[in-house]
Amino acid sequence: MDEIKLTGMLGAAAKVIELAIAEDIGPGDATSLATLEADTMVQGRIVAKTSGVVAGLPVARAVFRQVDPAIQFVSLAEDGQEVIPGELVATVSGSAQSILAAERIALNFLQRMSGIATLTRQFVDAACTTKATILDTRKTVPGHRLLDKHAVRMGGGENHRASLFDMIMIKDNHVDASGGIVAAVKRAREMFPDLPVEVEVRDLEELRQALDIQPPLDRILLDNMDLSTLREAVGLGAGKVPLEASGGVTLARVEQIASTGVDLISVGALTHSPPALDISMKTSPPDPTRTTAALQCRATRAKSQLGKRVVILGHHYQRDEVIRLADVLGDSLQLARHAAGTDAEFIVFCGVHFMAEVAAVLARPGQHVLIPDPTAGCFLADTATQAAVEQAWQVLAEITGDRAAGITPVTYVNSSAGLKAFCARHGGTVCTSSNATRVIAWALEQRPKLFFFPDQHLGRNTARRMGIAPQEMVVWDPFLPPPADVLRQARVILWPGACNVHQRFRPEHVHQIRRKHPHIQVIVHPECPMEVVDLADLSGSTSAIIEQIAKAPAGSRWAVGTETRLVRRLQSEHPDRLVLPLAPVPPYCRTMSQVTLANLVSTLEGLAEGELCNEVRVDADTAHWAQIALERMLAL
Ligand code: 13P
Ligand code: SF4
Repeated sequence: MDEIKLTGMLGAAAKVIELAIAEDIGPGDATSLATLEADTMVQGRIVAKTSGVVAGLPVARAVFRQVDPAIQFVSLAEDGQEVIPGELVATVSGSAQSILAAERIALNFLQRMSGIATLTRQFVDAACTTKATILDTRKTVPGHRLLDKHAVRMGGGENHRASLFDMIMIKDNHVDASGGIVAAVKRAREMFPDLPVEVEVRDLEELRQALDIQPPLDRILLDNMDLSTLREAVGLGAGKVPLEASGGVTLARVEQIASTGVDLISVGALTHSPPALDISMKTSPPDPTRTTAALQCRATRAKSQLGKRVVILGHHYQRDEVIRLADVLGDSLQLARHAAGTDAEFIVFCGVHFMAEVAAVLARPGQHVLIPDPTAGCFLADTATQAAVEQAWQVLAEITGDRAAGITPVTYVNSSAGLKAFCARHGGTVCTSSNATRVIAWALEQRPKLFFFPDQHLGRNTARRMGIAPQEMVVWDPFLPPPADVLRQARVILWPGACNVHQRFRPEHVHQIRRKHPHIQVIVHPECPMEVVDLADLSGSTSAIIEQIAKAPAGSRWAVGTETRLVRRLQSEHPDRLVLPLAPVPPYCRTMSQVTLANLVSTLEGLAEGELCNEVRVDADTAHWAQIALERMLAL
């Protein structure tokens, strides 16, 4: 997050918070003062009730602080992070009178800002296959300008001008009253030579006039044009002046507008009418055994009780407080290898479900694998179901005419044990991002074609690096399979899956960070789209990224396109290097965050008391075949 912008936003928020406290609490919260003892303490759990993108947590924290500096506010999510219904976003603890007085104000900020971030993310996602950037406008709640604009950034949008004084924007009314576009621009440039100038045009004739102005304008706004006029406008102005579409932009139309080729789309609705995100707070008497310090003590106690009987494995994308308790930290391949070699009776897997499943498949009889939150899945893995892959395989078998013997199936480790077993049964194997090149080379030595799932980006990026041209690859569409002759000619058939964290990185992010930090080196995970990998200086698996930053010289600068918790940890481990997230709103893996200190403690304490909670089991037949696939991979 841009620290300067965040500080500016919090400065603006301080004034609005003061007003909000004056209008809501005034001389005191009469109900709480009357019904609660002054020394009654409570804990509040702030929970998302619908899915969305959270924004405004630093503002909510400031509200509680302002009402009572003794209140403890702990964020369990970060601004810009996606949340699901029931997800714990933050906790507060302290005086019941203070917490209940501040609750409504804090939630009002949080719900509105999260509503803006959520709506922005919907627009950004709708336009994500184009180069268009989603912008806000000045249609903000008076006094909330910087808060609203912060929320837009957290949703993945960008900010238009902040105010009337930081950019010239010549609109139709200025043009009409000042004698035309050319005259208006001349006067504006004479009086404010340092300000960027944008001109609004209503038709193609005005656009031609605006495009002829020298030196070129900084931006041209295409006001309320239909799609065919927008396309013509792009034909006239593309590459000369950045073009912004504006007016009547709805979620239903934004993709079509973006597809005309405009560079920017400004959307008033982001801040003038966002539906609030439903977030609520429930209080309960304080539980001294559930503070962070108490949970850490409980975890350490349970761990020492269990001794060598337990090993805690932690993936690099896990929360810091979980990583601190892990015995082994690694990427998915390293953790799989460790799981295969450990003698511990209990393997507590702090990661996502498919990773724990791999450990369960490789475990020896008598070993048990547990995951602190069994619902921690993987968005990418879920894009390929067993039934859909088997159906695709059948079609491929019919087309090649030989029970698909001409195709090797390879699944990325981010997939169910069932799909790993499927690969083994059909002569294929598994890969991770660390060994994808080796595995794909092996697969193509076995048979002429490769069927790779579920991550199309890893498959495409790896195959390209091995010299396979994009024309030799085809993306499988389960709803509209590619024609038989296309499949017959293709060397690589890619499943259409993608990771919702790595897919967020866009080519613009690489351009922007290079403009802002000259000489910065960009390194990205191969789950990022090909256009991003092509622009980056380097791409590599989680461990390759970690090794690269570790061996980089002091003073070097890095922009890293992967999960944010890992990027932040790399920065704190290497303070003499600049390590930044590649995107302005760094993406978090929501499901990795589902493992918390609290559910890890429950798992460990359960074990210490002889209870196996959330054990990950794979049925014997699936485990047998999945093991063959994994061992084939580990042997390569
Ligand atoms: P690694 O194999 O790099 O650990 O990554 C797994 C993953 O889920 C990446 O998003
Ligand atoms: Fe799955 Fe992406 Fe999260 Fe990795 S980062 S676990 S691929 S959702």
